[in-house]
Amino acid sequence: MREHLENIKTLAKADIQATCSEAELESVRIKYLGKKGLLTGILRGMGQLSAEERPVIGALANTVREEVDNYIEERSRLLKKMELQDKLITEKLDVTLPANKKSLGRLHPITQIENRMKEIFLGMGFEIVEGPEVESSYNNFDALNAPADHPSRDYQDTFYITPSTLLRTQTSPVQIRAMQDREPPIRIISPGRVYRCDEMDATHSPMFHQVEGLVIDKNITMGDLKGTLAHFAKSLFGKSTQTRFRPHNFPFTEPSAEVDVSCFVCGGSGCRLCKGEGWIEILGAGMVHPNVLSGCGIDPEIYSGFAFGVGIERVVMRKYNIDNMRLLFENDLRFLQQF
Ligand code: PHE
Repeated sequence: MREHLENIKTLAKADIQATCSEAELESVRIKYLGKKGLLTGILRGMGQLSAEERPVIGALANTVREEVDNYIEERSRLLKKMELQDKLITEKLDVTLPANKKSLGRLHPITQIENRMKEIFLGMGFEIVEGPEVESSYNNFDALNAPADHPSRDYQDTFYITPSTLLRTQTSPVQIRAMQDREPPIRIISPGRVYRCDEMDATHSPMFHQVEGLVIDKNITMGDLKGTLAHFAKSLFGKSTQTRFRPHNFPFTEPSAEVDVSCFVCGGSGCRLCKGEGWIEILGAGMVHPNVLSGCGIDPEIYSGFAFGVGIERVVMRKYNIDNMRLLFENDLRFLQQF
């Protein structure tokens, strides 16, 4: 019996040392120590031994079992180490290989000009606020004094979501929100996207960008509007830029004006960019209509104000001499990389 146990130990040791993987090691473990294993078989046969032999062989069998267990554990550790070594060699990363070149993006020209406009107005003490693109027709039209039969309210010109909600056609509803939310003095600009039912062509897009401006305080006059916009134009297009106000009509301002800047290419003498006129139209503006003020709970006898709305695409196109608006929305890198 004793010899038999010693034999098993020697055999197990050899088997264990011959294994090359955890799986092989596991089957060796089962062969000796499993339920039907060789050592287990011996322990089970102990009943046939005499009373004197039993404790001696029992103790020996337990020692052999422990030793085999130790061999397995040792082998397992070694196998794991070898596996790691193997991985380190085969999965080696060569950090000296040249890297993939990543090219850095840049801001879209519309965003660049929008940021510049924000800077200019922040410098004059304006605050930036935002309004939603899905707006009530009340804020987009009624509160802005646009009568029920105003042509812009037509389904052909405006994207309606329901009869009383729409995609804002202008940033002017943010004026209404600002006057409802705040007490004068108010001095805000609001950049954002606006939508109109237009086919895309060289000068139109169903989505474009505006920057709205609104100032409400005591004693605000047309002189303040002119001074503000003159400073804005000089900052954006250069010190020698002149501004010109032409009478116009907007339902929510009275008087209203369209504002031109002197052509920044020819300085006003006439060239291809300004089509020989010397002037380029960039925005609409005016003094806030008393109906709009009182509709927002501001007393027009005490307060007055001015508002303006600049089309960003138009400024971008003039500034960079881009003759087709589609280029701004096609995301062609050959175009965008020029800015
Ligand atoms: N909302 C007008 C437009 O889209 C522009 C504007 C804004 C005019 C503010 C006057 C005052 O054409």
